Amino acid sequence: MEKRDVDKSAENSQLMQNIEFSQEDKDGLYKTIFNRRDVRGQFKPDPIPAEVLARILTAAHHAPSVGFMQPWNFMVIKSHQVKKSIHQAFSEANEEAAQMFEDEKQKTYRSLKLEGILEAPINLCITCDKNKAGPVVIGRTHIKTMDLYSSVCAVQNLWLAARAEGVGLGWVSIIKQQALHSILGIPKGVVPVAYLCLGYVSDFYKKPELETANWRERLPLAEQVYFDQWQDTRERGQDELIHQLYEHEGFVNQYK
Ligand SMILES: Cc1cc2nc3c(=O)[nH]c(=O)nc-3n(C[C@H](O)[C@H](O)[C@H](O)COP(=O)(O)O)c2cc1C
Repeated sequence: MEKRDVDKSAENSQLMQNIEFSQEDKDGLYKTIFNRRDVRGQFKPDPIPAEVLARILTAAHHAPSVGFMQPWNFMVIKSHQVKKSIHQAFSEANEEAAQMFEDEKQKTYRSLKLEGILEAPINLCITCDKNKAGPVVIGRTHIKTMDLYSSVCAVQNLWLAARAEGVGLGWVSIIKQQALHSILGIPKGVVPVAYLCLGYVSDFYKKPELETANWRERLPLAEQVYFDQWQDTRERGQDELIHQLYEHEGFVNQYK
């Protein structure tokens, strides 16, 4: 080996690692994913200890981001006054939303609880600061919304970490963006991406509440998979992956 190769290999051994995940590790991950729920109505008032919130936020902060931009900020909202203003903004938007649905659907809509703003001990607004890494960001040069997607990745990390910690989380999106800007003092150029309610819960639903309420069903996965061209689906007998998707229909239930 040449000296340059030896140096490179020594350098690599400092920089690289190859951590393996045991079956138990993998099970923990799938268990978290399949038992995560959007929570609206089961919040308990018990405070989330700062150390638990710190772990959850650390998970969010380790999400991938375009150009390692880390465009997020985490606005922790504990003030009852602020929560009340947000709840008012939700109620106004929710009334408008209800009117967008017809007859029976509107009746069902009105029966759904779609937020837990006042009950959840912590509300959290995750933002995207479009100017955090200067005007030209590696990876965001052509699709400008990549920064928003990065903040959404942080939301998902946070959601899964919260579930693993036994903390429920509900996403509230029925609010005018302008209301979030003015109530939370968020400047132009920063987008409020997710308004979230967090807290310990009495129970987690087994299935999405919208599924239980017959609002919408989970779609068959095999029909959502296309090959090479838009809408080019395969039957079970045509492709091993599709065959395996059917074989794995019980996979989720192993973790329930
Ligand atoms: C971007 C986004 C916005 C959402 N907004 C709301 C909302 O305003 N109110 C609500 O009750 N649920 C909201 N949800 C939760 C979804 O309704 C929920 O994820 C879906 O019904 C599946 O249920 P599950 O999360 O329990 O699996 C939102 C979820 C996402 C990803």
